[in-house]
Amino acid sequence: MTVDLNSGSDSDTRAIGRRLSGLLRAGDVVVLCGTLGAGKTAFVGGIADGLGIDEYVTSPSFVLMKKYTSGFIPLVHVDVYRVGSLGEFEDLDVYEESLSSVLVVEWGDAVAASLPGDHLKILIEITGETDRRVQLVPNGNWTKRPLEEMSE
Ligand SMILES: Nc1ncnc2c1ncn2[C@@H]1O[C@H](COP(=O)(O)OP(=O)(O)OP(=O)(O)O)[C@@H](O)[C@H]1O
Ligand SMILES: [Mg+2]
Repeated sequence: MTVDLNSGSDSDTRAIGRRLSGLLRAGDVVVLCGTLGAGKTAFVGGIADGLGIDEYVTSPSFVLMKKYTSGFIPLVHVDVYRVGSLGEFEDLDVYEESLSSVLVVEWGDAVAASLPGDHLKILIEITGETDRRVQLVPNGNWTKRPLEEMSE
């Protein structure tokens, strides 16, 4: 079941991410898609907040991968925007790195071929100056997870 939500502000998007964090457990993979400035990093910031992480999440564009360990579950944030090739992404060994963490991948479409089948895809679409359509699309075992809680 795809969950379709509307966000009217940066803080709305963070609140959706924060709410999603309640469903997340170690080993989960969340893939974020959406154009430049859609709010992918803001969404990850909400997840981090919900996981009890006290650091501010910024785009790891220059380091590609950043791990936050101050919360209940470690969060591994990867931004593949600047990753040149699938091989370069695979060399990061993100899955190895994140077996006991929640892994979030920004611009996941670029590396779709090496993502695990079990993942939650988040599509953020710009629909107005501060309006966003946020779709949660379950893949693999995510189809059995209680995503409907997100629209209550
Ligand atoms: N509804 C909204 N949700 C999220 N961000 C919003 C919203 N409305 C306005 N914004 C603004 O849009 C920007 C989103 O930036 P953010 O870095 O989260 O996007 P991004 O998708 O990660 O971009 P990039 O492609 O550069 O990684 C912020 O400046 C934020 O304040
Ligand atoms: Mg970003």
